[in-house]
Amino acid sequence: MQPKVLIERQELENTVRRLAAQINKDYREKKPVLIAVLKGAFIFLADLVRHLDLKLEVEFVCLSSYGQSRESKGEVKLVQGLCSNIRNRDVIIIEDIIDTGITTDFLLNYLNQQEPSSIRICVLISKPSRRKVPIIINYLGFEVADRFIVGYGLDWDENFRHLPELYSIEDE
Ligand code: PRP
Repeated sequence: MQPKVLIERQELENTVRRLAAQINKDYREKKPVLIAVLKGAFIFLADLVRHLDLKLEVEFVCLSSYGQSRESKGEVKLVQGLCSNIRNRDVIIIEDIIDTGITTDFLLNYLNQQEPSSIRICVLISKPSRRKVPIIINYLGFEVADRFIVGYGLDWDENFRHLPELYSIEDE
């Protein structure tokens, strides 16, 4: 099983800059709370925030649904919840990938219970053909076909997160 480059470094960087420019424009007068979903979103968040020219806060939640499998079990675990209060705040969810949409749907329910004033979703990769729950994405990096993707924070059984580009894994 050999990862093959799917999206190269320069294209990733251009896309992160494009998303940051949109967020800069939309939140100019605001102070959003960026909530990154661990573990997968850690590199995307780190690159994105360095292009944001805004007042902002960063928070994390840790959710897990895949474990050692390549297929979502459809059951999301809240491994670590929010440490701060988001009531009346403008929230931007930062996700590495939306596949079935089950994780994001779970997170939206969890966050909505805390009564933020708004929630938008910023995701690097979407796989629309895999969707089981409809999700409205406000800031989208790439739409990709149904391939298993690793690198740039995304793992397969905790491997490959450190790779600097996005790779697809195909069965040989
Ligand atoms: C991945 C990814 C998303 C979720 C998307 O997380 O980071 O949170 O799957 O899949 P879905 O749309 O089918 O729900 P994972 O559970 O693999 O944990 P990780 O972020 O720690 O890698």
